[in-house]
Amino acid sequence: MPSSSTSNNPKREADRLRDLLRRYQHEYHVLARPSVSDQEYDRLYDRLLELEKLHPNLASPDSPTQRVGSDLTQELPEVPHSVPVLSLDKAYAAAELDTWIQKCRKASGRRLSFVAEEKIDGSSIVLYYKKGLLDRAVTRGNGLVGNEVTGNVRTIGAVPLRLARPVTVAVRGEIFLPRPLFDSINASMEIPYANPRNLAAGTLRRVKSSEVAAVPLDIFVYEGYFERAVQTHVAILERLEELGFKCNPRTGLFAEPEDQAGLRERHPRWRIGGFEELEGYLEQSRRERSGLPYDIDGLVVKVNELPAREALGFTGHHPRWALAFKFEAPEAESAVERIEVQVGRTGRITPVARIRPVKLSGSTIANATLHNQDYVSLLELAIGDRVSISKRGDVIPAVERVIEKNELGNSIWKMPDACPSCRTGLVAQGAHLFCPNPDCPDQVRGRLRFFAARDQMDIEGMGPETLETLIRQGLVKDVQDLYTFDPGALLELPGFGEKKVEGIRAGIAASKGRPFRRVLVALGIPELGQKAVELLAESGYHDIDSLLSLADRGDPAPLLEIHGIGERTAQTLLAELSRPDVRRRIQALRKAGLVMAEQPPRAAAGGPMTGQVWCVTGVFERFKPREQAMEEVKKRGGKVSASVTANTTHLLRGENPGAKLDKARELGITIVEEAEFLRLLT
Ligand code: IVH
Repeated sequence: MPSSSTSNNPKREADRLRDLLRRYQHEYHVLARPSVSDQEYDRLYDRLLELEKLHPNLASPDSPTQRVGSDLTQELPEVPHSVPVLSLDKAYAAAELDTWIQKCRKASGRRLSFVAEEKIDGSSIVLYYKKGLLDRAVTRGNGLVGNEVTGNVRTIGAVPLRLARPVTVAVRGEIFLPRPLFDSINASMEIPYANPRNLAAGTLRRVKSSEVAAVPLDIFVYEGYFERAVQTHVAILERLEELGFKCNPRTGLFAEPEDQAGLRERHPRWRIGGFEELEGYLEQSRRERSGLPYDIDGLVVKVNELPAREALGFTGHHPRWALAFKFEAPEAESAVERIEVQVGRTGRITPVARIRPVKLSGSTIANATLHNQDYVSLLELAIGDRVSISKRGDVIPAVERVIEKNELGNSIWKMPDACPSCRTGLVAQGAHLFCPNPDCPDQVRGRLRFFAARDQMDIEGMGPETLETLIRQGLVKDVQDLYTFDPGALLELPGFGEKKVEGIRAGIAASKGRPFRRVLVALGIPELGQKAVELLAESGYHDIDSLLSLADRGDPAPLLEIHGIGERTAQTLLAELSRPDVRRRIQALRKAGLVMAEQPPRAAAGGPMTGQVWCVTGVFERFKPREQAMEEVKKRGGKVSASVTANTTHLLRGENPGAKLDKARELGITIVEEAEFLRLLT
């Protein structure tokens, strides 16, 4: 056994290790029958890694070590398919299936048998092998051109990098994420996915394949386009398995008795029977579906004999020799007529699908959000495509998937480069595009609506229509103008009588009394919603100036101390509060008389902690969030500070204290642990 770092014949040793590891990977991922322990596997794997590092000339792209995924950012280039990647015709009732079988028999004029496979609800992929080596993995795309995702697909253990024989072949399959793994992984995603299919598709499109490697994707393959003639679909599946692919063992074959011969032995896990059993098989699958560790949305029934397939041929978008039998009609099916981009009040650009109106559980749906470019790309959506629509959480309509590509040749939709409202060039921030122009008319409109709305400043008489009039008349250009324009000017316009204008005046005046926290939210600063405002106030930020000076210092540390405020929120807040246009707006609103501070909770005069200044670090058993501990300090007459300074008298330290602890030690401040603190409180 190789164990030292030198070797007489490194090439021979590496070859041997590769063969072994390849076998073990196949046993583990494809056959689910590992023959060695994880430790033994790791030992051999590490040894091969070592050899490949010592002798770089030995490295090869099909080595079992080449699945880890690189961190190099890669685009997803568009590449043409060299086999037609067609879709399937579909049926929802057993009777339609019967009719289809009869039609196939008649049109081909032969004795036929049929294979039934589960229709895996995953992400469609075509694997291209050259002389036995994985050359390319390409998404379905529009059927003619797809995106190359080879680096990402290489990370999937069940995809062979090298086949058992050096054949050149294209293979179709479905990449999926097992149900049980979906929930836990989805929880940490920036855009949570509605189902494992979307998460699998999203993962495949990720830029860093190291991130893909962290998601345990799996695959079943179901079609192989071999150079040399094979006579039946069963033979295709057998070949695929011999070559090292993973095929779904839950497969059925329905044939005349003489055509069933020999198959039972070769495929003990298949269901094999006469045609009369097909319907029972459908029912059985429907029943067992919810217990499977992966999602299926139906069965695919295929003519087994390949010469008959050839005779039956294709229509424009599906083969006549296969039929998808779907378990349920999709919630709603429609076509995407246009895709429009909306500009939100923060400048975020959101594509929205305008779909041919369709009824879905009680309402008519004509729009569905598409979130961002990533979502459109993962759906591989183009204008004119037929799509299935669902209502997420029973409210928000979502495009779930493309059911049929458009026949106009439209390619996958792309976001514009410029803002549709003001034509300013868009800038990317995370997964989204933003319009960077604060004076963009759509942003201003959104900002005004948000500011005046019930949950924020709640300005009577200032609904979207009135706001629209004010904007169109040039009376207001931004939120601060609401407090300076002359409502009397409205009297000249149709629809604005004395009474209405008086109401508006009163509404504006009343809004000046809204409490500080509401004003803060109404500013419409990204990341500064109700929850964040509460957290800030509870941590001692009781006025706008304390927040502005925090932004002036540009140090996120004090914000990060607040339980519930993360890195992204802190950074965004500092950046937003530093923007000149935001500053101008705040100053103008202050001048207009809006409330820019609140009374800090009153310290109990003469309480036991009077004169003390407390700071807190770490996490606590009893105080979650830890600001609760600081509330106790205030109740007892003490003061609290967000950071340790020369004025701080006590530091309350919990588990995993931060840098504040060092600072406190440096300054000789009294350090108190939780148990001691609890004692002090009583
Ligand atoms: S056969 C020409 N077999 O369903 C052959 N497709 O709605 C067409 N699918 O794009 C495909 N499981 O992504 C076939 N066992 C299976 C399948 C399957 C899932 C997907 C595939 C295809 C879509 C068509």
